[in-house]
Amino acid sequence: MADDATGAGTDESRFVYVGKKTAKIFVAGHRGLVGSAIVRKLRESGFTNLLLRTHSELDLTNQSDVESFFATEKPAYVILAAAKVGGIHANNTYPAYFKDLTTDLSWECAINFVSAQQEQEH
Ligand SMILES: NC(=O)c1ccc[n+]([C@@H]2O[C@H](COP(=O)([O-])OP(=O)(O)OC[C@H]3O[C@@H](n4cnc5c(N)ncnc54)[C@H](OP(=O)(O)O)[C@@H]3O)[C@@H](O)[C@H]2O)c1
Repeated sequence: MADDATGAGTDESRFVYVGKKTAKIFVAGHRGLVGSAIVRKLRESGFTNLLLRTHSELDLTNQSDVESFFATEKPAYVILAAAKVGGIHANNTYPAYFKDLTTDLSWECAINFVSAQQEQEH
């Protein structure tokens, strides 16, 4: 992978847009099924500056906590894998509940991230 000034890589890695191995990358939901696989792949690919917080360390639905986290940590990249996922049984039992909660939580986290990013730029 190329480590050019823009941080853009050019090889066939799935992480083609993150070239700098030292870039600070926040993986939200890193203990989950998806997040843990992403962390594993990033580490295998040589990324050394991963920023990880459990749900109890940082509730991503809390806007002011997310904003101060971003202001302090200033991650260069954010990967959002946090969600409220119920599994097969829960999804079968409460399909509408989990569908909406997953979508809403992901949106809520994303909106808080964008808001925190904008706070940093002002
Ligand atoms: N699993 C799949 O096969 C699959 C496939 C395609 C897409 N997806 C999507 O990928 C996303 C993640 O799914 P998953 O299966 O990895 O879920 P998961 O295993 O249940 O993991 C969810 C993660 O989100 C974190 N989390 C939940 N609420 C949070 C909050 N308010 N603040 C901070 N962290 C919070 C949890 O943190 P803690 O561990 O600290 O509690 C956990 O690490 C979902 O949107 C899902 O729809 C999943």
